[in-house]
Amino acid sequence: MTALLSPPLAPLLAKLTAEASASDIAFRAQWAGMPPAARHAVVQSPDYRAFYNSAKDAYLAVSPDTARLLYMLARAIKASSVVEFGASFGISTLHLAAALKDNGGGRLISTEFEPAKVARLRQTIAAAALGDFVDLRVGDALETLSRDLPSAIDLVLLDGAKPLYPQILAQLEPQFRPGTLVVADNADDSPAYLARVRDPAGGYLSVPFAEDVELSVWLGRAG
Ligand SMILES: C[S@@+](CC[C@H](N)C(=O)[O-])C[C@H]1O[C@@H](n2cnc3c(N)ncnc32)[C@H](O)[C@@H]1O
Repeated sequence: MTALLSPPLAPLLAKLTAEASASDIAFRAQWAGMPPAARHAVVQSPDYRAFYNSAKDAYLAVSPDTARLLYMLARAIKASSVVEFGASFGISTLHLAAALKDNGGGRLISTEFEPAKVARLRQTIAAAALGDFVDLRVGDALETLSRDLPSAIDLVLLDGAKPLYPQILAQLEPQFRPGTLVVADNADDSPAYLARVRDPAGGYLSVPFAEDVELSVWLGRAG
């Protein structure tokens, strides 16, 4: 059995997933009628703190398929060292931490800057009995993911402010090993990120799949 499909995590995830679905319907309703270009402008705004503060009650979670894929990828590569940018209420966090537990151990470094989300996230991680696998760093990822990183990162989820994807990738990249996987949710909202991982000379192989998810593997720079 996997932690994912067993108590306490399975019923907790079912509850969170239902809440996320309701929360996203409410959040999307606020956006209804906004032209795509205007929506992109808000999501890509350099004032990302204001945007996420306005969304502090919204889950904005990865889709259930993406969440399950994260678990599967982490299991498939036997990840023991994972970094997550953007935890929100913890749906992706729980999937990644469960994979580490089922792999026999490891550490997920995750980060979130909205205080109300952090408080609930801590409770959720404790309720899932996954606290031993999560190093939750409170604050802006530009700072929290710039220090005390593991010597080799196996898997990364990028799911925070879209304009920061290229910079967070650059902060983490020195710790990548050949085969490190990077999953970027809503990657279409970060054109500079897509250009970076799709550059044939950039050291990655990259492919879009599902709705707006980019999966990249670090191969290393030639020479
Ligand atoms: C799309 S949600 C993450 C959803 C989460 N991965 C899940 O699947 O449930 C993005 C989260 O990242 C947080 N965030 C955005 N930019 C951040 C930053 N620079 N540093 C820390 N957290 C950030 C937001 O507050 C928000 O809760």
